[in-house]
Amino acid sequence: MDGELLPPVHPRPDLPGRVRIWEVGPRDGLQNEPSIVPAEVKAELVTRLVGAGLSTVETTSFVNPSWVPQLADAEEVFTLLAPLRAAHEASASGHAGLRLPVLVPNLPGLERARSCGVRDVAVFASATETFARKNLNRSREDALEMFAPVVAEARADGIGVRAYVSMCFGDPWEGAVPESDVVAVCERLLEMGAEELSLGDTIGVATTGQVVDLLDALARAGIGAAQLAVHFHDTYGQALANTLTALSCGITTVDSSAGGLGGCPFAKSATGNLATEDLCWALAGAGVETGVDLRRLVETSVWMADRLARPSPSRVVRALAAKTKESP
Ligand code: HMG
Ligand code: MG
Repeated sequence: MDGELLPPVHPRPDLPGRVRIWEVGPRDGLQNEPSIVPAEVKAELVTRLVGAGLSTVETTSFVNPSWVPQLADAEEVFTLLAPLRAAHEASASGHAGLRLPVLVPNLPGLERARSCGVRDVAVFASATETFARKNLNRSREDALEMFAPVVAEARADGIGVRAYVSMCFGDPWEGAVPESDVVAVCERLLEMGAEELSLGDTIGVATTGQVVDLLDALARAGIGAAQLAVHFHDTYGQALANTLTALSCGITTVDSSAGGLGGCPFAKSATGNLATEDLCWALAGAGVETGVDLRRLVETSVWMADRLARPSPSRVVRALAAKTKESP
């Protein structure tokens, strides 16, 4: 992006030199849209995000389509993405390292994903009992049992496995969530064979001290920053502060969503994720590498906002979109 569209750099030695962004907009964002976005638009969104330098783009979910009709076209989206994936495989540079992970709750979902050639999946557990029932139609324990064969089969096939843990910082039905519950679910998922855990603030209520405390509790249980990612929704406007705090505690993988798309249809009061643009702007100013071309990313979010017929909630998207219009 042009120099004048980036902040001046004031390095923060307490932050990592490079952050890996796990873009979740096409999945976490579009699963919550009141209207169903056409598969062609979804595939173009993923392609544009990859073109903006995001090398990990969570693409869709292979869940029960009657639960999430917004993503019922997962197979079609993957068919449309075949040229992008082929270009990646054929190129030594270009899209090298491209990953298009998907959510998979059970063996039927894994089978569907495998038949599309998916190489990275994510299961999604809950730290609380109520959300497990609302989101997965079973108890927290039964949900973990549902995931165990998914993780085992995927790993045996050389498929990468991430595990989300939702409601790590608060639950709209149960209120405060004991750290010990989060730690226990994290331990089970790692024992199962998950390679990375993403700590979800599903309803965006976390504050910075709580982030430090949970990461400390996990570290005491032997679960260090290298195994963790953070996933903050921005309901209370704290997602960026919480993310920067997590980075200063050693986290190097961050989930975010282009233009701040997002939410969860099964968690009341869940709004969009941390906007990828807000993250990239802050990290650019701190001298942290992300590999993202912020101009192309903003153009993509403006394009997507036009498709959804409403403006992006991201302040950085709005500010930079106005500037880009001034200096095309
Ligand atoms: P269930 O209804 O209990 O499933 O749903 P079931 O096993 O009893 O099967 C019922 C029917 O669904 C059967 O069909 C199955 O074949 C079919 P029938 O025999 O009635 O014709 N079915 C499937 N079809 C296609 N693909 C599948 C599949 N599975 C079953 N994978 C289930 C249980 C887990 C499937 C359901 O609850 C579900 O799909 N939940 C997904 C909910 C979801 O996607 N939530 C949003 C993602 S989580 C999130 O956003 C949080 C996160 O962002 C982190 C954070 O912010 O905290 C990740
Ligand atoms: Mg989420």
